[in-house]
Amino acid sequence: MTVDATLAEGAAQVLRDNDNGVILVAAPSLYPHQWSWDAAFITVGLARVSVPRALAELSWLLGAQWQTGMIPHIVFDAVDGYFPGPERWRTELSPNRPATPPTSGICQPPVHSLALAAIVEAARHGSAADRRAATEFVRDTLDQWLAWHEWLATVRDPDRTGLFEIHHSWESGMDNSPRWDAPYTRVTPGVMAPFVRRDLAHVEDATERPTDLDYRRYIWLVDQMASVRYDDADVQRVIDFRVSDVFSSALLALSSDVLAELADTVGRPDAADRLRVIAKRSRDGVAASVSPATGLARDRDVRTGEWLSTATVGGFAPLLCGGDPGLVSAQRELFLGPEWCGHPELRYAVPPTTSPADAAFHPRRYWRGPQWPVINWLFARAAVERGDDELAGLLRGESLRQLSDGSFSEYYHPLSGAALGSRNQSWTAAVALDWLGRSW
Ligand code: SER
Repeated sequence: MTVDATLAEGAAQVLRDNDNGVILVAAPSLYPHQWSWDAAFITVGLARVSVPRALAELSWLLGAQWQTGMIPHIVFDAVDGYFPGPERWRTELSPNRPATPPTSGICQPPVHSLALAAIVEAARHGSAADRRAATEFVRDTLDQWLAWHEWLATVRDPDRTGLFEIHHSWESGMDNSPRWDAPYTRVTPGVMAPFVRRDLAHVEDATERPTDLDYRRYIWLVDQMASVRYDDADVQRVIDFRVSDVFSSALLALSSDVLAELADTVGRPDAADRLRVIAKRSRDGVAASVSPATGLARDRDVRTGEWLSTATVGGFAPLLCGGDPGLVSAQRELFLGPEWCGHPELRYAVPPTTSPADAAFHPRRYWRGPQWPVINWLFARAAVERGDDELAGLLRGESLRQLSDGSFSEYYHPLSGAALGSRNQSWTAAVALDWLGRSW
């Protein structure tokens, strides 16, 4: 077997091993449930193995959608071993949650349309039955995806700024990124029920995970949301963390454009129009956030009105959603330059989650420096959408070199290249499989 074929077989094996017959768990022990954005990336890989299995993964996730339109960030499986589980979330307090299965009460970035498009693309090369199933699925579920995008663009952006707000850094997916350091200084946990972290048992070294103080804040916010039964308006009133997330807003723009194209293919121009309105507003919001001083896009603390300037990968939001060509080309130059992918000490030329040139950089600690293959995949996917095959090719080549250790790790040490976090992480295997199956 060639090196690539061996890597592809390893990735496919991870997806088989993590399939419990209903869902693909995000990781074998650290994350034994279905996570929202993990499921989307996993589906991108699964589509290359089996279109029906990929559709089943998205179906299960959609089955847990809340009546508000929110897709919850965790759909719990009937296993123990993860904290916070359903008993801490207490989402049964909300009239909007699904009757079953149990879910968390927050969301994650809207990348699901990219998964849907990957299924449609795979089906095009598959059997007639695959093509039929994919088309029917898009047609039958379109209104659910639309409701998800519209909930983010309205309930989470009441002033229509183009940047939607999050109420927990878990909603960004980048839990302990320096992006959230300033807003978290204003989250001061009060008296709360005790808890025991479970995550530390699954990594080699505690410095790979968030700190205990981070966790107290994370759980405090969960308790605050539960105290108002996850009512959207009440959460905005009581929560200590309200931040406009520029990276996720860029993903909403990209995903809304992709979903609009799919809507057109199933004869739904009405939905396509609504999605393009969301895409444009989000893209404009992202562009307006760019700092003239650094050239990076910024999050914004809704409670204080302050722009948050951090040297994190979140600043490259315009490279995800595109827009003004001058802005995109300036960002591209910065992205490939010496503070980011071109930093001379990097083992592989893919973006570290925090610039090594920044004081907040920590090469082992979760989202404070390590490189994440799924983030690299997103930048590559977005580059193709803009017609920048050169950038996509660079990211693919470096990522496959990084992934050639076959560990399919959650994240990687940007300087040494060492595997970090969970091994056999489903989404890492999935994007590896996708990259191996295409030329960009
Ligand atoms: N990433 C979180 C965790 O580490 C959950 O979304 O548990």
